[in-house]
Amino acid sequence: MINHANAQNIKNWLEAINQFNSTLEFGTTRVLFTPSEIAAREYVKNEMLKLGMNVREDAIGNIFATYEGQDTSLPAVWTGSHIDTVLNAGMFDGMAGVVGGMEAVRLIKESGQRPKRSIEVIVYTSEEPTRFGLSCLGSRAMAGKLSLEDAKNLKDNDGNTFAEVLKSLEYNPVEFKNIPISKGSVFGAVELHIEQNGLLEENGLPVGIVKAICAPTNYSVEVYGCQSHAGGTSMDARRDAFTASCEVSLSLERLAKESESEYTTATIGRVEVVPNAVNVIPGTVKFSIDIRDIDFESKNILLNKLLKEISEIEQKRGVNITLIPENHDRPIRCDEKIVEVIRQSCENQGIAYQVMISGAYHDSLFVGEFAPVAMIFVPSKNGISHSPEEWTDYEDIAVGVDALAETLLTLANTTDE
Ligand code: GLV
Ligand code: MN
Ligand code: MN
Repeated sequence: MINHANAQNIKNWLEAINQFNSTLEFGTTRVLFTPSEIAAREYVKNEMLKLGMNVREDAIGNIFATYEGQDTSLPAVWTGSHIDTVLNAGMFDGMAGVVGGMEAVRLIKESGQRPKRSIEVIVYTSEEPTRFGLSCLGSRAMAGKLSLEDAKNLKDNDGNTFAEVLKSLEYNPVEFKNIPISKGSVFGAVELHIEQNGLLEENGLPVGIVKAICAPTNYSVEVYGCQSHAGGTSMDARRDAFTASCEVSLSLERLAKESESEYTTATIGRVEVVPNAVNVIPGTVKFSIDIRDIDFESKNILLNKLLKEISEIEQKRGVNITLIPENHDRPIRCDEKIVEVIRQSCENQGIAYQVMISGAYHDSLFVGEFAPVAMIFVPSKNGISHSPEEWTDYEDIAVGVDALAETLLTLANTTDE
């Protein structure tokens, strides 16, 4: 028998991590390898040690805390998430899964059981693209999709490369080649996460079981028109980079709404207008495009249509539009057997659930490249996240942890396949 998760433990850990925050006055900001993030890493590692786990880090700063099973030669079972955040975020996105994994291990240990397989709680490096513009750095590297060369090319706003930052923190570049995880060496991975949508709340359900995870495609877009006088340039004579960008944004929104895929989103979240002055027609606009889809083929269809419409906008408005691709990631289906184990754990404990897809991406997207994965969602209040208003009740996380703990234990005791 495993006891129920302790909501107070979860609260204590989450509140403690939340103190490592560079914007205490407005939400939570914890950007990769800034002092607050480094301090949070130290705190979490220390709490993992206190749980009696072995703790190590790889060359990109992924943290692995192991509760050793009876046979350490067997592929382990993984859980965990991330502790970095977007700017002015909340205190649950990522952290709920790290703390949830720790609480699940604590419960399993408390039950006196030593599973056959080891259970590892992972803190993946920089799930958020906040610092280097690319998401899931740690899990991407585990999947063999981020090399040392790539790390040398990724730059933050101050011009530091990711490789330089890693080196300055004494991560060894020579070890970078050892980060990828080979297929078959992880038995299964289950990530607990807040839902970041409002379906569970709407349906009055405590748990979502994720069957598929959307993947992002990101572009940096640069629109070049002609900077000129707002009054002196008549309407027919202008080549306004901003109005052209607005057309791109409306095309993108329409294409996403028209998509026949089960789930598609498109967002322009960052916009920079140059020179950004009241009486000047913008000559340059730079913005981001973020497209998510649960179906890779549908995403490609949308992208082709978008490129066609963009070239029409260029013609019509006399502007040049450059699209710099940043990533074009593949959505994944979760492992049906793990989904079934989670479902069974919920049934056993009388936890109501719904099976759903994840519109947000997660490290599980990349872990899914080398291991069977699934996820457990807990409700987000009003469906809001990436915001200081992000909230999930500690008791709700505890219910998710109940499902997680039984799932991890079941997987860790499964050896007959
Ligand atoms: C992750 O934070 C995402 O943007 O989906
Ligand atoms: Mn996030
Ligand atoms: Mn997250």
